[in-house]
Amino acid sequence: MNLAAGISAGEIGQATVDGMVLGDGEFQFLRSFVLQHCGISLGEQKRQLVQGRLQRRLRALGLKHFAGYCELLRSDPQSELGELASAISTNVTSFFREMHHYDLLVNELLPRWMKEKRGSGGRLRIWSAGCSSGEEPYALAMVLAEALEGHASAGFDARILATDLSPQALAVARKGMYPLERLSGISDERRKRWLLRGAGEFEGLASIHPRLRELVTIQPLNLLHDWPMKGPFDAIFCRNVVIYFDQPTKQRLFRRYAELLPAGGYLFLGHSESLHGINDDFELIGRTVYRKRTGRPP
Ligand SMILES: C[S@@+](CC[C@H](N)C(=O)[O-])C[C@H]1O[C@@H](n2cnc3c(N)ncnc32)[C@H](O)[C@@H]1O
Repeated sequence: MNLAAGISAGEIGQATVDGMVLGDGEFQFLRSFVLQHCGISLGEQKRQLVQGRLQRRLRALGLKHFAGYCELLRSDPQSELGELASAISTNVTSFFREMHHYDLLVNELLPRWMKEKRGSGGRLRIWSAGCSSGEEPYALAMVLAEALEGHASAGFDARILATDLSPQALAVARKGMYPLERLSGISDERRKRWLLRGAGEFEGLASIHPRLRELVTIQPLNLLHDWPMKGPFDAIFCRNVVIYFDQPTKQRLFRRYAELLPAGGYLFLGHSESLHGINDDFELIGRTVYRKRTGRPP
């Protein structure tokens, strides 16, 4: 999860206007709560940021001080978790972010999977773990739908699972409607093909093509909790999600990913993320692309 960078003067100033100041004890409680439930290690220096971000949430809940908010978290930790995570993090994403990952899929992995899976049931699964508002899984669906063309008679059973912790992000993903200015990562050809331009009240928006929607299943999931799915997946995209996770949380998560991938399965990370010194189930085969090893390294 990316902690939202920076905080405006307005946000800090609001603390004194509203009297909503995050005290020591409350901040320490929030730090340990967020570490336990979201795997995020919040540094001391994030206090102002957390205070500013959560003031909005407190107002939305009609709460006048942070003590009440901490009490809410204590009494019902699960129900507020997604909102809390959304408030202190950013869900920044975009279509075809880190294009080199899609190039690898289009030029190498999808053609190979199509060939290999043709005679063996055609099951293909990709997981977008930490999918935010849906741009990543829908971009994956575009390249998958294109690869599947011409193989209709082979009866492929191909699907993308898209999960996230944030209820707001998932609501946008489910809606599948994006402002035109958010489509800049998509080529003209793909825009024409896979996006439907809105009119009237939907002017300025574009809607995801039904063919892509049917390839993508969107589900809420906290990566730190139990997972209902058993896999196996051919590839897991977990990009720009673990940056602020502490080391033990990353180790546990990557071990669990390895369990859901067959030998030779792929794990895609974000541009500033790495498995170095964290997990050796995988070998690095490209820029932030890992492949599960067939055996343990020597
Ligand atoms: C910066 S966005 C990355 C979106 C996309 N993967 C990309 O690279 O563009 C990080 C997402 O990870 C999600 N996230 C963070 N911690 C999570 C957790 N413990 N379980 C599930 N999702 C989480 C956040 O809600 C956020 O939507």
